[in-house]
Amino acid sequence: MSRVTSEPLVLGIETSCDETGVGIVRGHTLLADAVASSVEEHARFGGVVPEVASRAHLEAMVPTLERACADAGIALGDVDAIAVTAGPGLAGALLVGVAAAKALAISLGKPLYGVNHLAAHVAVDQLEHGPLPDPCLAMLVSGGHSSLLRVDDVTSSVTALGATIDDAAGEAFDKVARLLGLPFPGGPHIDRVARGGNAVSIDFPRGLSSRRDLERHRFDFSFSGLKTAVARWVEAREASGEPVPVADVAAAFQEAVVDVLTRKAIDAAVDQGIEDILIGGGVAANSRLRLLAEERASARGLRVRVPRPGLCTDNGAMVAALGSEMVARGRVPSALDLPADSSMPVTHVLS
Ligand code: KG4
Ligand code: ZN
Repeated sequence: MSRVTSEPLVLGIETSCDETGVGIVRGHTLLADAVASSVEEHARFGGVVPEVASRAHLEAMVPTLERACADAGIALGDVDAIAVTAGPGLAGALLVGVAAAKALAISLGKPLYGVNHLAAHVAVDQLEHGPLPDPCLAMLVSGGHSSLLRVDDVTSSVTALGATIDDAAGEAFDKVARLLGLPFPGGPHIDRVARGGNAVSIDFPRGLSSRRDLERHRFDFSFSGLKTAVARWVEAREASGEPVPVADVAAAFQEAVVDVLTRKAIDAAVDQGIEDILIGGGVAANSRLRLLAEERASARGLRVRVPRPGLCTDNGAMVAALGSEMVARGRVPSALDLPADSSMPVTHVLS
């Protein structure tokens, strides 16, 4: 059957952290997004254990591939190209996805695109809100990354404007949740508990926001001082014998994070003369972040795009979306010996 007139069918594989994701897209249309998460296996350690994640990817890869193909109603042989997260991420975890993608590309005789995980977090929004405005300002906030990027072309030109100098935003959510006795991963729990708290009841520090810090780190983030401030506050409360007001602490902590994130994203957009801000990564699922970003951006005449929560956290659809864009823009596929690169820089969009 000829497919000359239809857009390419692209399969994307994601294994950079604890989600085994296989997504299938045709052009900008999402056909399947199968995700198997090993998050529960890490919960008792309070963070992702790399070896456990790698083994879980190995076990989940084939069933997740099969589920994605069944959901999309396609056979593997129908696929026009394979995309895979080549980095950044956990080395052993990335290797499982890259090896699977190579095996598919070789056995099916289809081109392989080893793509950057961060750029994929940006590209996924096309599945929901259509073509990305060029340029756009992307803020990626998750358990592993917090960066501000200028995206002129998601397949070839991404510039880092700033990043966290210590903990990632999601990591701060997870650590603070732990000290408040909330389950891992803590972000969604803080988000939920904070709704019943008073965000202005405690004044937690805003990292890298003093005039002096802004001179050197205008678009960078720091969350470790905030995490320590919350820990000290909770310890003092416990020492006094009074109960810890969990909802208030959660709300005030969350406010400190989203206040800095939204301020810096908007400052960067204005500085770069960019009118569209895209927020991605797991923390983009945060309800307060979404609200405050919308409010502050519209006050400055800027637009905000945030994919729905299921597309913000790690998944295969984002990799397929970026792969599909690579095909559409005629990018040269990766070599079949492409490496998994755990510290792949964001400027390196295609391996
Ligand atoms: O993108 P993601 O699934 O994986 C990484 O690449 O890290 O992000 C996971 C992170 C976790 O730290 C989790 O606590 C955080 O995203 N997260 C949230 C929310 N949902 C997930 N943080 C704040 N509020 C949320 N609603
Ligand atoms: Zn991610």
